[in-house]
Amino acid sequence: MKKIGVLTAGGDCPGLNAAIRGVGKTAIVKYGMEVIGIADGFLGLINKDYFPLKEEMLSGILTLGGTILGTSREKPFKKTGPLSIDKPKLINEHYKELGLDCLVCIGGNGTMKTATRLAKEGLNIIGIPKTIDNDVWGTDQTFGFDSALGICTDAIDRLHSTANSHKRIMVIEIMGHDAGWLTLYAGMAGGGDVILIPELDYDIDAVCNYLMERARKKKAYSIVVVAEGIKHPKKRSAASYISEKIEENTGLETRKTILGYIQRGGSPSPMDRILASRFGAYAVDLIAKGDYGKMVIKKGEKTKDIPLSKVGNKLRIVPHNHSLISKARGLDVCLGGKI
Ligand code: F6P
Repeated sequence: MKKIGVLTAGGDCPGLNAAIRGVGKTAIVKYGMEVIGIADGFLGLINKDYFPLKEEMLSGILTLGGTILGTSREKPFKKTGPLSIDKPKLINEHYKELGLDCLVCIGGNGTMKTATRLAKEGLNIIGIPKTIDNDVWGTDQTFGFDSALGICTDAIDRLHSTANSHKRIMVIEIMGHDAGWLTLYAGMAGGGDVILIPELDYDIDAVCNYLMERARKKKAYSIVVVAEGIKHPKKRSAASYISEKIEENTGLETRKTILGYIQRGGSPSPMDRILASRFGAYAVDLIAKGDYGKMVIKKGEKTKDIPLSKVGNKLRIVPHNHSLISKARGLDVCLGGKI
């Protein structure tokens, strides 16, 4: 009988509990494995904070936001001072002490980096990619993205009506770290007039000219969707910077909304529940075969896997030739360039 550990690390997102359930139920019901829940990401393995994850604990969590295991941004390989404890060594020791056959790491880019290094040190690891940013290299999609897309789109929809009432420019800031997936998709789904993503340089004068042109055409209001990762002065939010510039340059009344952590909270969308469940179940199928050192991915309609070592330090960003970019331009959406 195999014994496996499961942890969630990095920023949370909707679908984590669905993935934990997918891992746990498949392990217990399909394969008769023993499952250990590790608390707060890699911190739990450092501090010996873990507990048996029983089948009954997995019931009723599919629709729950957050993670029943807790999470943290603990990076065990990052040296934090000369007296810092050897965290990778502790993880190694506790993994062995627990008698684990494999550790399932559910997380984003940072987590996959740690997972890859632990695998290099000889631990059996399986990675499952999650994040609202959708920026994990190697998979078509991470779970969390679809739920966040729904939340952002709903927020933009709501901003339309108040923008219209007051004849204002609404600037909305969306998460995504250095990737523009969430902003581009939500911007398109919400009918944004201007969409600024980190992958495409913008010219603030061109953006302002575009907005002035809309005002001249008697368009009552405009929606400007900006990614948190676009170039802007440090210490200020992207939305503050862009909305101030717009008001300064055009004289049009402007308001900003920073969506923030609302994007990561609450119940996962149906698609994320399915994706997370699939990823979880597939991860355990790999473990049953002894096929370690892999990250589960979505390719087209299929669930597959790639070597963790391939994911490394890569980032999946929006390519300049992405079909949605040309479609947006065709719809007269301003992506930061000339009109
Ligand atoms: O990685 C997901 C994410 O939501 C990013 O979009 C955002 O920049 C970051 O997490 C902020 O998270 P935290 O404040 O939890 O570190």
